[in-house]
Amino acid sequence: MSVLVPPIKCQGIKTKLVPMILRTIDRDQSTRWIEPFFGSGVVAFNVAPSNALLADSNPHVVNFYKAIQNGHVNGYSARDFLQREGEVLARRGQDYYYEVRDRFNQDREPLDFLFLNRSCFNGLIRFNREGRFNVPFGHKPNRFARPYVTKIVNQIERFRSVVASSEWHFKCQDFAKTIAEAGRNDFIYCDPPYLGRHVDYYDSWNERNERTLYDSLSKRQARFLLSTWHSNQHRRNEQLDSLWGHHHVTLHPHFYHIGARENNRKAMLEALVTNYPPPRGSLEATVPAVDSSQLEVSLELLPA
Ligand SMILES: C[S@@+](CC[C@H](N)C(=O)[O-])C[C@H]1O[C@@H](n2cnc3c(N)ncnc32)[C@H](O)[C@@H]1O
Repeated sequence: MSVLVPPIKCQGIKTKLVPMILRTIDRDQSTRWIEPFFGSGVVAFNVAPSNALLADSNPHVVNFYKAIQNGHVNGYSARDFLQREGEVLARRGQDYYYEVRDRFNQDREPLDFLFLNRSCFNGLIRFNREGRFNVPFGHKPNRFARPYVTKIVNQIERFRSVVASSEWHFKCQDFAKTIAEAGRNDFIYCDPPYLGRHVDYYDSWNERNERTLYDSLSKRQARFLLSTWHSNQHRRNEQLDSLWGHHHVTLHPHFYHIGARENNRKAMLEALVTNYPPPRGSLEATVPAVDSSQLEVSLELLPA
């Protein structure tokens, strides 16, 4: 299947995992889709529900998508902006990147956010304690060459057409509040930050948060699907057993790159937790059956 790519990137983006997430969802099209940690929006974008509540604690991500929804950001405004700003970046290099970063930290303009997100180091979204965007330059002054701008413009237009034909509500709020809004007929997809992986002003996560997530979901009658991790070569997610182990857990190997080098390919066993039996065709494995020291063996046993 071809996966629609959203106009912004973020750490933990699920682009590569969309096919398996789609296979594991069990809802009919009229069900409201709720995403308390929507990030780049790639999952909602590909599910394309007609009715959705999409929330995140990061106000800049939420503002960016609201700006697409109200037309402030569209294909024309983005092309015009990225071409103009891209030319200055090509001429002035990293000094200009840092100038735009300061401007964004003062004015919070969605198009500056897009510019930074697409020219910063590794497409990261990271804010410091004062709520200031602090990702360094990605070292590509010619970042906004015409084909790249066209690619982003197409992503925006595609997103805009999906948002325009649906009832989507964007909110900046804590996940517990979003989940508390769910009714029994809604479907909740949760993709929280992975424990101990990223630390950022809007995006930190600890065991207490995971427990609150568990309690919040347990109080609702809605179906839910949770993305989390099972293990990598070094560690195993203990809370997968202790908190979520009595739900249905489907395991999926996933490879990601650290830095740009092809040989820095790391394996991670992703887990999808559901409070309903996963549809036929998604592979179910009992969590204790996979030992992280045996991860490479397990990866061979599991279909991609
Ligand atoms: C792993 S990312 C989600 C990625 C998203 N599924 C995607 O594919 O782009 C986790 C998101 O949770 C958000 N987040 C972190 N803590 C939160 C909280 N307490 N309430 C709501 N959102 C939170 C972060 O801002 C981040 O966008």
